[in-house]
Amino acid sequence: MRNFGIFIFIATLIVTYGSCTSDPMDGSDNVPTYDSDIRNITYNYCITCHSGLAPSANLDLNSYQNVRQSTENGNLLNRINDNNNPMPPSGLLTDEQIQLFEDWAANGYPEN
Ligand code: HEC
Repeated sequence: MRNFGIFIFIATLIVTYGSCTSDPMDGSDNVPTYDSDIRNITYNYCITCHSGLAPSANLDLNSYQNVRQSTENGNLLNRINDNNNPMPPSGLLTDEQIQLFEDWAANGYPEN
């Protein structure tokens, strides 16, 4: 039983460390999806200009396919990171919002 104290110490470390690193905002996993993360951002910050009959830059960001296309093959990631020429033009999104786009792309653009 001499090692029991060490066992308790390590178990306490694991429990403490685990509770510090888990994110209460995210119940399941950390992969953002279009339906639960990306669409909220494009609806709130992009489609006022990038949708409708004459979208700015002829870029319609009002669907999964279009947002994916612009992220995968277009300028979207560059422009949401571009301090000198930001999208939205009023100023860059928060770091957390930008990171959602980066993680969404890195994980293969899951829709839901
Ligand atoms: C207030 C209107 C407005 C909003 C809001 C806006 N944009 Fe734009 N966007 C424009 C205009 C105008 C252009 C064309 C001029 C330019 O490139 O700066 C443009 C250009 C772009 C381009 C470049 C397209 C190309 O062909 O190179 C991308 C990508 C883009 N926007 C993405 C976004 C994203 C993503 C958001 C939301 C996070 C957003 N925009 C929000 C007006 C807007």
